[in-house]
Amino acid sequence: MAFNDLLLRTLNGEKTDRPPVWFMRQAGRYMKEYREVRSKVTFLELCKSPELCTEVTLQPIRAFGFDNAILFSDILIPVEPMGIELDFNPAPLIANPVRTLADADKLREIDPAKDVPFVLETVKMLVKALDVPLIGFSGAPFTLACYMVEGKGSKNFEHIKIMMHTEPKAYAVLMEKLTNSTLKYLQAQVDAGAHVVQMFDTWAGILSPYDYEKFVFPYVKYIVDNIKGAPMIYFAKDSYSFSDTMGKLNCAGMGVDWKTKLVDADAKLGAGKYVLQGNFDPVLLFGTKEAIKEQADQILAEGKTLKGHIFNLGHGILPTTPVENVDYLVKLVKGQA
Ligand code: CP3
Repeated sequence: MAFNDLLLRTLNGEKTDRPPVWFMRQAGRYMKEYREVRSKVTFLELCKSPELCTEVTLQPIRAFGFDNAILFSDILIPVEPMGIELDFNPAPLIANPVRTLADADKLREIDPAKDVPFVLETVKMLVKALDVPLIGFSGAPFTLACYMVEGKGSKNFEHIKIMMHTEPKAYAVLMEKLTNSTLKYLQAQVDAGAHVVQMFDTWAGILSPYDYEKFVFPYVKYIVDNIKGAPMIYFAKDSYSFSDTMGKLNCAGMGVDWKTKLVDADAKLGAGKYVLQGNFDPVLLFGTKEAIKEQADQILAEGKTLKGHIFNLGHGILPTTPVENVDYLVKLVKGQA
């Protein structure tokens, strides 16, 4: 089959007949094929096996015909070799959270070829196996720092916010090491063949717009400005309040969550500056076909007014999502429903 380059043309600003469609976390527990593979290994073992990662990356492409694949891994995989003791249950759990300057000083920057060879091997295997583009990814430095400092997910993220404002040196050392490691990690994925990279800033939205601009934006900008050879999509959840600041980033695509209309996000980011990705509410995949179609049609109509649109969910797909609705929504976007 010919290579499907719809995502690449869209990110390049070309007009296409329909938007490409993929879903964040499209490989995972809502698929029985994934649960079958996962029943035999731990999540970390899965992430470190190029053969199994390749298999679970391909599962949603085969089952639903998404227009691109996303590397199967986790945003926390590259922080383990920095010196973090990591486990999943299934949410991330860190035994030695970073709380002081001494803790931050002990961390080391990664060398992807030496520290995460299995990720680069997976990228190479996938590029050979796929007839659609492959998205590589990383966490953004701040979102990784949230887990490293809190030690797990959190409601208020007070440890990281307090570090930011009372131990600026510790925060800066941590963020500089994460920024350098993340740039090297993404560049290694591109050099191994990834066609696009996405940076997930899932927790940026916990910050005030002032703190986003001062404590997060410069690090993101450094990575965006220095990655070479592939377009980047930046996804910061809950980011409407600081999307004017995000509008100073020279990346190709911006992710939008379901709480902001695509047209409103576009206006605040800088009208027509970016290809936008999103933003179907993942919980609506539990709704009726009528409810799914109504929101999908609204998003598709707004998407047509943009520089470009990549149809996606506004955040990751939930583990109990009915597969028949995934199939239906993908077909709707492709004009096959
Ligand atoms: O999109 C894909 O299909 C690629 C795979 C992928 C995973 N995690 C697999 C995974 C990607 C892109 C991620 C990114 C990720 N991981 C993010 C950013 C995106 C987002 O959703 O905000 C974050 C914040 C994490 C951290 C993380 N890892 C959490 C919060 C969890 C638990 C999630 C839950 O629902 O319980 C994980 C574990 C994880 N990562 C699983 C998968 C498939 C579940 C592990 C299992 O099989 O037990």
